[in-house]
Amino acid sequence: MKKVTAFAPATIANFNVGFDFLGVALQGIGDEVTMSFNQTESNVITDIENGADLPKEASRNCCSVVVRCMQEQLNDFTGVDIHIKKGFASGSGLGSSSASSAAAAFAYNELLGKPFTNKQLVYFAAQGEKAACGSPHVDNVAPSIIGGMVMQKASDKTDFISLPILPDLYAVLLYPQIVVKTSESRSILKETMAVKTASQQIGYMGSFVASLYLQDMDLFKAAMKDVIIEPMRSMLIPKFDEMKQAVLGKGALAFGISGSGPSVFTIVKGQQMTETIKTTLEEIYSKTDVDFKIYISPINADSGATIL
Ligand code: HSE
Repeated sequence: MKKVTAFAPATIANFNVGFDFLGVALQGIGDEVTMSFNQTESNVITDIENGADLPKEASRNCCSVVVRCMQEQLNDFTGVDIHIKKGFASGSGLGSSSASSAAAAFAYNELLGKPFTNKQLVYFAAQGEKAACGSPHVDNVAPSIIGGMVMQKASDKTDFISLPILPDLYAVLLYPQIVVKTSESRSILKETMAVKTASQQIGYMGSFVASLYLQDMDLFKAAMKDVIIEPMRSMLIPKFDEMKQAVLGKGALAFGISGSGPSVFTIVKGQQMTETIKTTLEEIYSKTDVDFKIYISPINADSGATIL
């Protein structure tokens, strides 16, 4: 019986400047989904390794929701057994449901002989995201499938641009093991803001994209700011301001909230700097009573979903 396993990586959504439409894929951290046809018309979640709290009902699990959407599109309901292996915690802000949804879309597409393009897979994976947290935003699923830094297009919300990435970038992530649900983290966002704030953020986003095409590290550093979402969400993350001040003081290019939190990310140039930042973050969090994990990943185009 043919069996396919796909890996899809964790991601940093929003990346400070692009709330809900920009995201970056990490490397080496992610979920695996294994599928095989089961000779029925039902999709069955057989096991969720490291995810005992996640739903196994086909109508609620993001992987089976993704498969079902793909089946509806093809009008072919040959069922599959789905084995999920979570590589990192859900509710971490690193795109946990997206990594599973992306891996499910990638695995099922492979099992069927690749009838769908990556663009279509992003759409299907976004339906898994909707099942998991109520909103079909693509800033996690698009980079998780495509890899690298991916921005949703203004001209076609179901299409994406792979942005160039500056050389030798690394992310150092700290995941404080507190629960911040995406739905809650979205519900605290105010509906309106001052024109001045919007104007400032538009300037940052414009400069950010320009910095990538100009390969201008100074401009990238100046632009990697979030004056809209961070002020509202950072209060959910213990020691946020202290960490930000400390890592920027050590020469990091940027610091911010990964997705809806609670994880935070630091962007640095060069692998050597990652150790300095790791130590800095560890020193700050060791003084709290919050358990935490640190992840380090290069940021480049050599990422995205793969068949194992
Ligand atoms: N863009 C989303 C948010 C990512 O910030 O709420 C979370 O999945």
